[in-house]
Formats: sequence, structure tokens, C-alpha cells
Amino acid sequence: MTQRAVDGGSLLKVYVGVDPEGRRHREADTVRRAAHRGLSVPEVLATGMCDAGSWSVFRMLPGVPCGVRTNRAIEEYIDHVVGLTDKLHRSSPELTPGSGWSGEGRSPAPQHQFLLDQLSPRCRKRSWWAALAEALQPLESHPVVYLHGDLKPEHLLVDDYQLSVVDWEASARGPAVVDYADVVFHLVRDLLYGGVKPGRVPIDLMTRLPFSGPVLAWRLLLWLDRRRPQDIDLVAVRDVHQLAAEDHAPTAYASLAGAVSALRAAGVPR
Ligand SMILES: Nc1ncnc2c1ncn2[C@@H]1O[C@H](COP(=O)(O)OP(=O)(O)O)[C@@H](O)[C@H]1O
Ligand SMILES: [Mg+2]
Repeated sequence: MTQRAVDGGSLLKVYVGVDPEGRRHREADTVRRAAHRGLSVPEVLATGMCDAGSWSVFRMLPGVPCGVRTNRAIEEYIDHVVGLTDKLHRSSPELTPGSGWSGEGRSPAPQHQFLLDQLSPRCRKRSWWAALAEALQPLESHPVVYLHGDLKPEHLLVDDYQLSVVDWEASARGPAVVDYADVVFHLVRDLLYGGVKPGRVPIDLMTRLPFSGPVLAWRLLLWLDRRRPQDIDLVAVRDVHQLAAEDHAPTAYASLAGAVSALRAAGVPR
């Protein structure tokens, strides 16, 4: 939940839902590290926990969120994603996969395990689990980089001079394709839920981004897993297998659009 101050200079965020303290600390720590790396991010003016919950106050940044209403706007958004990830996705040999940007003191999990661990335990019993786990194994050879973890148009603020990036609560360390899968997934889902027909999703505009079929399949399942408890069983198992085996981005994005459209028709909330 966010609320702007009346003078427009700051924004209060109250962390509600899952692990509010973890998200508050993660976001405050990552924005500090991201500022050191030269990214324009919201400064934390104050942060704490009280009876009403966990909260932070951020300095307001200039700019307006990216949009996806026209193909031109989508192209500009993808340009900004490429510019941002050029700076963001730096790797270093000591970096290990995990949540947040500081991994000290924790035993590292393999890259594929870090992704699988984000799905709830009920997913292990699904018929697609073993194939997904196997398809994600090659991520071990990808460099571990700093991830934003929730890239979408409303988190990229643009003005005449710079690009600013907000909402770092899901920041992580892992393979770069996780951030790109997020961009494509949010774009496809939001266009379809906004009423665009699956055949009209501008797939060609997204093929500039690095791609992984297994990570896209994982991203779709992560979304479903976080909807209503029974929604995970509405996905067609053959769609999961097909996406996870796909190594051609345009075909994968078309299958993703088909799958999300079917799930929307089956009543899955956005
Ligand atoms: N520091 C900021 N300056 C300007 N706008 C912001 C700032 N932080 C957030 N916003 C705007 O408010 C929206 C909600 O903030 P966000 O951090 O994404 O909270 P939530 O966790 O509720 O998604 C963002 O999508 C962005 O458009
Ligand atoms: Mg947000």
C-alpha cells in the first residue's frame, strides 16, 4: 500500500501480506546498493515497524511510468529495459543465487533450485514438476547477476533526463533471464487482461530480449501458484511441457499468450 505526501515530496509504503519485515529490509538494502552502482532509485528517508505494520518513506522521483497502450510505447519501454539491464545485470565471481542483493552468511542454492524454491510445496506433486526441474538445470552455466525481480512498466519512471526505477522488494541474485521473463510475462498478461486478442500481442517487439523457455514456463507457474489455491490445476500440462522445451522466442511468446488467454477465460484473476 502506498500513499503520497500532500507536498508530493515523499511516498509512504506499508508492507502488507507475505513477510513484510523481510520485504522492507530487502528493499531498503537494495536501493542503497543500487544507488552506489549509479542507478536512479528512491532514497529511503525513514523506515521502521510499528503496531500498524512495517513501513518505509521514500523520496519521490521525477518522471512518469512507462506505458504499453501503443506499439510505440511498448518499443520505448523495451528500450528502457535494455538500457537498465545493461547497467544492472553485472556479475561477479563471488555472487551466489538468492533473495536480495546481499547474500552473506547463507549457504547458496543452485540457480534452478532458487527458482523452484519460490513455488509452493503443492507444486511438487504436479505432473509437470519433474520436467520443469530438469529443463531449468542448464541455468547452472548462466552467470549470477543482480536482478530487479519485478520489472514492469509502472516500475520504470521516465523524464527528459533519466530513467528511475522503483519497487525493489523482490530484488534477487540469479540468472539475467529471470528479469527478462518477468518483462515478457507482465507485458503479455497485462495486454491480454486489458482485452487484446492473443494474435494481436506484438511479439516481434519483445524478441530483442534474451530468452529462456524453461524460465518463462516457471514464471507462468509462479503467477498461477500465487492466485487462488485451485488455479494451478487450470494450466494445460502440455502447455507447460511445450513452453519448457521451447528454444525459439517468437513461438514461445505465442504459446504463452495462448496459455494466459485460456487461463483468463477459465476465470483466473489477473
Ligand atoms: N519514489 C517514487 N517516486 C515516484 N513514484 C513512485 C515512487 N515509488 C513508487 N512510485 C509509484 O507508485 C507505484 C507503487 O509503488 P511500489 O513501490 O511499486 O509499491 P507496491 O509494492 O504497492 O507495488 C509505483 O508503481 C510507481 O509508479
Ligand atoms: Mg509495485
